[in-house]
Amino acid sequence: MPSPFLWGVASSALQVEGALTEDGRTPSIWDDFHRRPGAVRDGHSPAEACDHYHRWAEDVELLGRLGVNAYRFSVSWPRVVPRGRGPVNKSGVAFYDRLVDALLERGIEPVPTLFHWDLPVELEEAGGWSARETAHAFAEYAAATADALGDRVRRWITLNEPVVHMAYGHAFGIHAPGRVLDVPDVLAVAHHQLLAHGLAARELRSRGLEALLTNNYSPVEPASDSPADRAAADAYDALHNRLFTDPVLFGAYPDLSAFGAGEVPGAREGDLELIAGSVDGLGVNYYNPSRIAAPAEGSGLPFDFAEVTGAPTTAFGWPVAPEGLERLLLLLGERYGDALPPLYVTENGCSQTDAVTPEGRVHDPERIAYLEGHVAAVDRARERGADVRGYFVWTLTDNFEWAEGYHQRFGLVYVDHTTQRRVPKDSFDWYRGLIAARR
Ligand code: FCB
Repeated sequence: MPSPFLWGVASSALQVEGALTEDGRTPSIWDDFHRRPGAVRDGHSPAEACDHYHRWAEDVELLGRLGVNAYRFSVSWPRVVPRGRGPVNKSGVAFYDRLVDALLERGIEPVPTLFHWDLPVELEEAGGWSARETAHAFAEYAAATADALGDRVRRWITLNEPVVHMAYGHAFGIHAPGRVLDVPDVLAVAHHQLLAHGLAARELRSRGLEALLTNNYSPVEPASDSPADRAAADAYDALHNRLFTDPVLFGAYPDLSAFGAGEVPGAREGDLELIAGSVDGLGVNYYNPSRIAAPAEGSGLPFDFAEVTGAPTTAFGWPVAPEGLERLLLLLGERYGDALPPLYVTENGCSQTDAVTPEGRVHDPERIAYLEGHVAAVDRARERGADVRGYFVWTLTDNFEWAEGYHQRFGLVYVDHTTQRRVPKDSFDWYRGLIAARR
């Protein structure tokens, strides 16, 4: 029997769990990075986040009320394998064990992500993603986690948005680990993440499990028809949309010559063969399209960002363009043809300036409009042949939004970050109704 379409929500460990020093968890790069002056807006800390580590049962209740049939969460590497490598931490595993069982009891498929940016600090100190060994450490951790949960979990996501982790964490320095590397070293970070995915996928598949890779995708449009803007748009497209997808689907890197890169540093013989064909599904995180212009004189990059005009924006300032999601899902089909596995929209959502009314309600009509528009875009893409098997809203509870701290509220559930009180927003009821009508 074919699996039903997955209607879900997504979250990640560092953004919701808190309990950073409990039950044997060791620090991740975000535990360190957020303490750097200016790294996170207003010095917000992930130490408590949504206290999901203690309130998981309440959160699973909320998922049950919402009616989702899938929940995408991430496993904290430093909780399960403290220090990144070596023995498995039984209490760390026990947390995910309980979570998985509670989800299954409610008919909710657990869809774990193995790496959502919380690298154990000790691995960072040994070179982080600049070191090839990190890929092997990841595969060991993936194997151990699959051994613990693989009897109940079928679909696994290896990495979340390696392109963002690479660029924000290792080129722009605005996410952990806050490094600002040169282009060749940034590409080595890309390669080691891809290798990590390939090695982990091999572990998962050898256990009869499915391996997915989730990336951030953004359909690219040149700021004008000029050859310079079009070349810049192609360069950005290669970096943002193709760098982590061509190797897994075509077994080759895209043309990176605009970045002055011939060979991708760190790639060894056999690596691309391992990486090629290593996905049973592609996770697509979509928030907004990009408009790209030729770089200003003296820029170190072959592109520049131009404003997407004529679209409303979210609280984050991101343009709202649901048709971009339809375009993207169809583009992936055109680009990769038979090599493209089933697609899952593993994140989509928006931050808004939500507030609780005196009656205890949270009215978020903009979020409802955003989600409605994007679900309709998925519907249209499917009608036109895109093989989309699931849609996950980012996110269940307002949480720690990386460098923005608690300033961006993306949740279907409002969280008072002082009391941890959860208040389902109007969008929660809207999504519940949609799922009930569709399932
Ligand atoms: C994505 C991240 C996710 C969340 C959303 C808003 O890039 O994967 O953790 O922060 O953006």
